[in-house]
Amino acid sequence: MISSIETVTPAFGPHALAAGVEHIPVTVYGSSSQASRAVAQEIAALIQLKHARGEHTVLGLATGSTPTSIYDELIRLHREEGLSFKNVITFNLDEYWPMSPEELQSYRRFMREHLFDHVDIDPKNVHIPDGTLPMEKVAGFCAEYERKMRDAGGIDYQILGIGRTGHVGFNEPGSPRDSRTRLITLDRVTRMDAASDFFGEWNVPRKAITMGVESILSARTVVLLAFGEHKAPVIRRAVEGEVSAAVAASYLQQHPSARIVLDTSAATELTRFKTPWLLGPLEMFGLKWDSKTTRTAATWLAMTVKKPLL
Ligand code: GLP
Repeated sequence: MISSIETVTPAFGPHALAAGVEHIPVTVYGSSSQASRAVAQEIAALIQLKHARGEHTVLGLATGSTPTSIYDELIRLHREEGLSFKNVITFNLDEYWPMSPEELQSYRRFMREHLFDHVDIDPKNVHIPDGTLPMEKVAGFCAEYERKMRDAGGIDYQILGIGRTGHVGFNEPGSPRDSRTRLITLDRVTRMDAASDFFGEWNVPRKAITMGVESILSARTVVLLAFGEHKAPVIRRAVEGEVSAAVAASYLQQHPSARIVLDTSAATELTRFKTPWLLGPLEMFGLKWDSKTTRTAATWLAMTVKKPLL
């Protein structure tokens, strides 16, 4: 059993939901490590609960820099506090296509290095889209991937990161709500963001196999994490914008138990941080009209009405 589940107090609760601006529950933590620890401990508690009931836990896993601290904490819980992965089944969101598992950029390799090689998971319970398949076998593989998720009882807890295009997995702009696991063409922005991993944009694969929007929304719990200021604009669109294929993460607004977990930097574009005076009394957000807030609001007003400050 885990003896020391630490309580991490979110820096701000999802107050703005009440104001009707945020269309999905958002929790903002003071740091990405606090946020990651909280999510890892939630996952650990779920694994233990289901284990005690004699059930498997089915996790949907993501790659990228965002979830690595969650995996670090899960490994620590395994090593130091006896958390076992024997009853865990995993499905990864995506993999580049084509991609060999030995390549530096392979998500299969990433998952081995960041999690699977360090815990007691049964390799036959690990599922990752296969980047080595010839084109004619991809569609059959994708249908089989969906069948395996269903046979496992569906995903209990899905972790997501978010790309600059608003993608979850590799569901690029234009991905329909009812999409399932499939081959997708990567957006130029996504390929540019991956360029440094591949030592140049031209080496980034043009396609990937990804779970679809519907596959993701079928999970019982979905938690999207985003850290850093560079994620702030797309987080605002996903949280405050309308549900649209232009930002796949906005579909999470339609999930009954999806949540967004941010550090303070990724939250900076949300109305409650950027222009909280638009939402109601500042005290609601633990703020007051001090000189800094007054200056920021006056500058915002001057720019909005395009009039100079006297
Ligand atoms: C890739 C992955 C996504 C991930 C995104 C963001 O595109 N396919 O699943 O969410 O990168 O990566 P990072 O967490 O490094 O910002």
